[in-house]
Amino acid sequence: MFALRSRILHYPSSDPSRFEYLADGVLLVENGKIVDLRAAADMQAQGFDLATCEHLPNYLIMPGLIDTHMHSPQIDVIASYGQQLLDWLNKYTFPAEMKLANEAYAQEVAAAFTQQLLANGTTTAMVFTTSHEHAADAVFNEAHKRHMRLIAGKVMMDRNAPDGLLDTAERGYVESKRLIEKWHGNGRLGYAVTPRFSGTSTEAQLQSVAKLHEEYPDTWIQTHLSENLAEIAWLKTVHPDAKDYLDSYERFGITDDRTVYGHCIHLTDSEIKRIAAKGARIAFCPTSNLFLGSGLFDLERMKSHGIPVSIASDVGGGTSFSQFRTLGEAYKVCQMKGYSLDAHEAFYMVTKGNAEALQLDQHVGDFTPGKEADFIVIDPDATDLIGRRVRQTNDIEEELFLYMILGDDRLISRTYINGQLQFEHQFEHQFEQQFQQQGSQIIAKQDRSAG
Ligand code: GUN
Ligand code: ZN
Repeated sequence: MFALRSRILHYPSSDPSRFEYLADGVLLVENGKIVDLRAAADMQAQGFDLATCEHLPNYLIMPGLIDTHMHSPQIDVIASYGQQLLDWLNKYTFPAEMKLANEAYAQEVAAAFTQQLLANGTTTAMVFTTSHEHAADAVFNEAHKRHMRLIAGKVMMDRNAPDGLLDTAERGYVESKRLIEKWHGNGRLGYAVTPRFSGTSTEAQLQSVAKLHEEYPDTWIQTHLSENLAEIAWLKTVHPDAKDYLDSYERFGITDDRTVYGHCIHLTDSEIKRIAAKGARIAFCPTSNLFLGSGLFDLERMKSHGIPVSIASDVGGGTSFSQFRTLGEAYKVCQMKGYSLDAHEAFYMVTKGNAEALQLDQHVGDFTPGKEADFIVIDPDATDLIGRRVRQTNDIEEELFLYMILGDDRLISRTYINGQLQFEHQFEHQFEQQFQQQGSQIIAKQDRSAG
């Protein structure tokens, strides 16, 4: 059991305006779970000894950030110049993903990717790996070591890409099934059946996607939908029998409340209504949509249809692992659409809302007792500018807003997974170590001169 005393924020319900903010709160954690969250004064009044807490007076604790759409191998294509989706895939992404045929390299990538998640305060993610079974294994292994609640899947793609990345309908099925048996429900891990997009799958493969999801109904499905206009035009030639892009999935039953479609920028009214009727989920990926020139997602329109919209980085089409950066770009995209995304809605989305979209909210996303203790400690003095600007704010909403506009990984002081410290910002450490080293060198010198 341990207790942290600090400023604490979370969203205990689906209504972002009903946030809970404690200016001086205590978070009690035991065996990886939240045991209690209360004002320090209340705890003390009930006989709790506040001296047993680790006290972080100026910091802000909130639930771990959740990212509902990202690609682990694309850590190595992030920030690649000058192309839109289809050319970007061919020029940068497919060649980068082919390198993961090398198992040792795939392991190194998985470790680096997981480290980036932790350094950015992302405690849960839904991840596309590559079409190599061992690359999915590597990501699951890294997450398992750290007891992370993570969902991932081997990419299924059996046409329209370089040979080195293609599986077959049969092999994609067999390998996915083996991975599901090994990892789905193993510790905190979950499996997402992962057809890359209908453009790189034959009808036979899309049938096998539906079959896997029928055999394992509590797996997820993740894929891409309606991201880019050239992609949509091309899709019509790849699936001439589908009446629209969504139908290329729907015809095979690849649509339900455990399906997460990435992007969804150029949907027709009919597609939106059908997504809403099936309860399927959308991942809004603003840094990617801007970077690849894909278009401006219409958050308000999707919300008006009651579609659960989550928010995601889409690394490496997306340009940052930091969900603060994602929220900042989401704000700007929404501004272009005439909607002002407020800070409470934004931070609800990236914690509780994303947990709800992935149907993980019974486990993570807020601090109600019994939830798993995934949380971050934010340092309001992460940079001189942020520290200065924070002191001008009048309330927590203004403070959160400046984090989403100015913030990045520097805000993350600590990341806890399942009640265990898994990341701590190195600055003070490095400084301390350097200081200790210098100190011991001086002592050694003194010893020598004394000797
Ligand atoms: N559509 C199919 N594959 C991809 C991918 O890797 N990234 C993005 N942004 N869109 C895709
Ligand atoms: Zn993607």
